[in-house]
Amino acid sequence: MPKVFVTRPLPDSGIQLLTSALGEDSVVVASRDHEISREDLLEQVSGIDALLPILGDTVDARVMDAAGPSLKIIANYAVGYNNIDVAAATERKIAVTNTPGVLTETTADLAWSLLMAAARRIGESERYLRADKWHAWGAQLFLGVDVHGKTLGIFGMGRIGQAIARRARGFDMRVLYTDPVRLEPSLERELNATFVDKPTLLAESDFVSIHCPLLPETTRAFGAPEFKAMKPAACIVNSSRGPVIDEAALAAALKSGEIFAAGLDVYENEPEVHPDLLACENAVLAPHIGSASRETRAKMAEMAARNILARLEGERPPNCVNPEVL
Ligand code: DGY
Repeated sequence: MPKVFVTRPLPDSGIQLLTSALGEDSVVVASRDHEISREDLLEQVSGIDALLPILGDTVDARVMDAAGPSLKIIANYAVGYNNIDVAAATERKIAVTNTPGVLTETTADLAWSLLMAAARRIGESERYLRADKWHAWGAQLFLGVDVHGKTLGIFGMGRIGQAIARRARGFDMRVLYTDPVRLEPSLERELNATFVDKPTLLAESDFVSIHCPLLPETTRAFGAPEFKAMKPAACIVNSSRGPVIDEAALAAALKSGEIFAAGLDVYENEPEVHPDLLACENAVLAPHIGSASRETRAKMAEMAARNILARLEGERPPNCVNPEVL
C-alpha cells in the first residue's frame, strides 16, 4: 500500500482523488492548517512514497533522506518550487512536480488588485474610514494616481506577466516588458508589449509589476538603485517571490517619497514582514494569496494529486520539473 503525506489540509477534491485511487489509509493529511514543524515533517515522511508539500515547507536533502528510498515524488502545491532542493531530488531519482497554468489568471487578478489598491490608496483609506476618521467629502482626500493611460512595466514576461499585459489593454496602457527571453513578434503584437532593457523599464514605467521566478540572478533585483531609477509617482507590485525585492530599501523609498506606493503579496522572510514596511501607509500588504481563489486552489490540489497518481502508477507525471529522473 503506497503512503502519501500531505503537509497541510487542502481542498477536498484533491484529497478525494488520492483516497479514491489509493484507499483512505494510504493518505495522511496533517490536521493543522499551519506550517508543519521541521521535526514533525522529518518524522511524518519516514517510509512514504509521495510527499505533497506546500510553499512554506522546505523540502531539502535531509527531508528526502528521512523519507528513505521509497520516496518517488514531491508534488509541490504551487507553481514556484524554490522551497524544494530539486538537485537533491534529482540525485535521488525523485520526481518534483508543480502546478503551472491553473493559477495564472487568478494570480494576475491579485497582482492587478494590488496595483489598483496601491494607485488609489485603498488600504490607507479603508483604515481611515474604519477608524471613524471620515467626517466629510474632501477635495484633497486620499489623492492617488491614475492607472488608465499610463505605462506599465512588466518584469518577467512568462504566463503571469502575459496575463497582466492582457488586462492592461482594458486600461489603455502602454506596456513595456523585460525578460531574459524575448517573446515572438506575433505575441508581442497581440499583447501590445514592447521589449526594453531594465533601465528603460524603470525609467519609463508608472507601474512596475514583478513576475519573474526566484533565481540567483533575480534575488534582490529591486533595491535602492532601482527605486532611485523609478519615477517618483511610480508604484511597484510584487506577486512573485519576496526576495526579488530588498524590503528595507523598498521601505526607505516609500518613506522618503522616492516612489509613490507598493502592492505586495510576497515577502523576503514569510510570514514575517519587515517592520519598516508595516509602518508604510503607502504599502498595500497581502499575505501571499496570489492563487487563493476557491476554484484555483481546488484545481491546484487536483493537479498535485494527479501528478502523484501518475508517478505511483509508473507513468509520467504531467508537471514534472526534473524529467531527467523519469
Ligand atoms: C505559487 O504557486 O507559486 C504561488 O506563489 C502560490 O500562491
